[in-house]
Amino acid sequence: MDLETPPPDLYGRPRADRFFERLTAFGDWYSPALGRPGLRRSPRRAEARGVPPLFLVVTAHRVVAEDVVELRLADPSGGMLPEWQPGARVRLTLPSGRERHYSLCGDPADRHGYRIAVRRVPDGGGGSAEVHDALHVGVRLRVRRPRNGFAFCGEEKVLFLAGGIGVTPLLPMARAAQHAGVDWRLVHTGRSAASLPFTDELRSLDPNRVEIRTDEEHGLPDAAELLARAPRGAAVYVCGPAPMLAAVQRALDASPAVSLHYERFGAAPVLNGRPFTLRLGPGGPELAVPADRSALDVAREARPELPYSCKQGFCGTCVLKVASGTPEHRDRRLTEEQRAAGLMLPCVSRAAEGETLELEV
Ligand code: FES
Repeated sequence: MDLETPPPDLYGRPRADRFFERLTAFGDWYSPALGRPGLRRSPRRAEARGVPPLFLVVTAHRVVAEDVVELRLADPSGGMLPEWQPGARVRLTLPSGRERHYSLCGDPADRHGYRIAVRRVPDGGGGSAEVHDALHVGVRLRVRRPRNGFAFCGEEKVLFLAGGIGVTPLLPMARAAQHAGVDWRLVHTGRSAASLPFTDELRSLDPNRVEIRTDEEHGLPDAAELLARAPRGAAVYVCGPAPMLAAVQRALDASPAVSLHYERFGAAPVLNGRPFTLRLGPGGPELAVPADRSALDVAREARPELPYSCKQGFCGTCVLKVASGTPEHRDRRLTEEQRAAGLMLPCVSRAAEGETLELEV
């Protein structure tokens, strides 16, 4: 995959795209942390407060690929769960208090369990390791109801491109496409066959429409080559790491496809960043934020307990209050009133070159 040019996105994109508009609306429904102690609660939060969370129990935990576990979550009393559509995610509150979003990858027709799959990320924030190591059968969890920021629109011709664990939202979409008689293809890319979950399940939908493409066997994928599988006029749905999305975005215009729907995991690369300084509390340590790193990542080196979830500026989990200095807001979550009150989302927002931002932590 071509990794050289960062993707256009919220870190510098001049205008919103449909995905982030939907995602922001979705974040409005379930922003988790704008009510943290000492911080003003979001006015949008009142709407979310009317939607009670679910309390579910882990009923199955099994390894489905190298470093990937699948969990089934169900109502402890066997009740039906709220319905969902392909592309939906849930937010789990882990036993440590960390909050993480995961795509539902089961069958929406199964109303008695939600299935998620999680890859262990060794140098991540600890959420995936906690899912692997602590979410045993019988553990109870608070779960925010499914929300969908990556809806499947059921176009006549569709190419699904999955990068590794990015297959999770695409698997239910492929199932829906098969049932609806859509002309679909799915390419699942990854390091090795052993690292890719749900291969047999995908092939059981229609083996002629599924291609497993591993780096070990075929070398690194090229986005133009992947997009060449699209039927003319197709919609492309892609979910995978940021470099994969960037490469697909760049190659789309020269491909037979006509539209792109995507979901990113984790943070996008910083675009048009400038170096500035963070101070953590009055008299606290001063930390240099380089042009290509987020304020959150730098702050977490000194204060690893600082919470986060989406790292994309839509969930609100990382919100902090600015005690002094002028932030450069790059999120799509905070209202003008919240910004005026000094709130900032440091996973995406920054400051001008040479500025020092003091944060209340
Ligand atoms: S807004 Fe989600 S982690 Fe910052």
